[in-house]
Amino acid sequence: MTALLITGGRVVDPVASLDAVRDVRIRNGIVAEIGEHLESDDGESVLDAAGAVVAPGFIDMHVHLREPGFPQKETLATGTEAAVRGGFSSVACMPNTNPALDSTASLQWLREHAQRFGRCRVYPIGAITLGRKGREPCDFAALAEAGAVGFSDDGDTVADARVLRDAALRARDVRGVFISHCEPEDLIVARDLLMAAETGKRWHIAHLSTREALELVRGARANGAQVTCEATPHHLTFTAVDASEIGPPARVNPPLRWEEDRTALCQGVRDGTIDALATDHAPHTEAEKNDAASPAPGFTGLEIAVGAYADALPGLPLTHFVELLSVNPARILGIAGGTLRPGAAADVTIFAQRSWVVDPATFASKGKSTPFAGRRLPCKVLATIVGGELRYRAPELVA
Ligand code: DOR
Repeated sequence: MTALLITGGRVVDPVASLDAVRDVRIRNGIVAEIGEHLESDDGESVLDAAGAVVAPGFIDMHVHLREPGFPQKETLATGTEAAVRGGFSSVACMPNTNPALDSTASLQWLREHAQRFGRCRVYPIGAITLGRKGREPCDFAALAEAGAVGFSDDGDTVADARVLRDAALRARDVRGVFISHCEPEDLIVARDLLMAAETGKRWHIAHLSTREALELVRGARANGAQVTCEATPHHLTFTAVDASEIGPPARVNPPLRWEEDRTALCQGVRDGTIDALATDHAPHTEAEKNDAASPAPGFTGLEIAVGAYADALPGLPLTHFVELLSVNPARILGIAGGTLRPGAAADVTIFAQRSWVVDPATFASKGKSTPFAGRRLPCKVLATIVGGELRYRAPELVA
């Protein structure tokens, strides 16, 4: 295990109420010490983070890693390499795989392969219904026991309200939040907020994209509902007008909306209605994206995310930025992370205000299609540390 000293960075740890220039010492995979002007010990590598922000490792609570079943789109190796390059030390992966993550066997397969090939921590989301067919609820206790940190039929809405209510009641006392893919968005957000209140299940709305849906979440919260929600880089950046100019690379579910929706979402992030930022990283092959009749919905997202969030949310206080990307996803999923307090696992993201231009040819992800291609972004990930190991370092970061 490496011993590492990160020097001179602005350490932003909202949980510890810390925002100051500090050095961070990492030993045996954990944060050992945070202080000023720490001396480096023998055999310790030093990372000079002057001018950069040192944050608890970012967590993307909504990615599609495509395995098992679709290695032509992405593999655990390429998807998690994209994650660490994008600044994510942990990801939660969605169950629309083949087979779906609806059994202890498929979860075990995923966890073993993530252990072997993963570059970051991988937390599986189990399905809500068997085969994601929307008919029979999964065995939630068994899936949680096998490592599922949440449940979702993401990619599809559980259309039958009776099935979803039955599932939520069965899952109520099982650890693991329900995550809704809501289409048609406003109607299903309204339904699922009622369902959360009625069943008492903890609920999270994925990729919120409309102003109305945001209002519904605000209302439910005001009435005491235990519900959280997320927004994606693309819904915070682009509109349907952009989508018609960009073409197939901008096709995604839920679709890109209108300027009033986009600005409402940005405001919803700023006022705290939106709890988490999540990419919905959804890579497809070039052939699938270029299919003129029916381009596959979704696109790669992990490697542009941090820059895109900073671009969409200029002036957002850094502590809030870190809450959205680390503290809150950890809390919503009930997983470790979200702080650099001594004794915590040494998951660290180092990033800086640095302008760069998105070039998909450089992506580690197999997905190369993105509406962000060619876009200039104001913020760059410089390093990602997972359990004390330096898993990504940008060439400009001196070690
Ligand atoms: O555009 C999307 N693509 N939205 C989803 O919810 C699923 C995703 C996928 O898996 O391709």
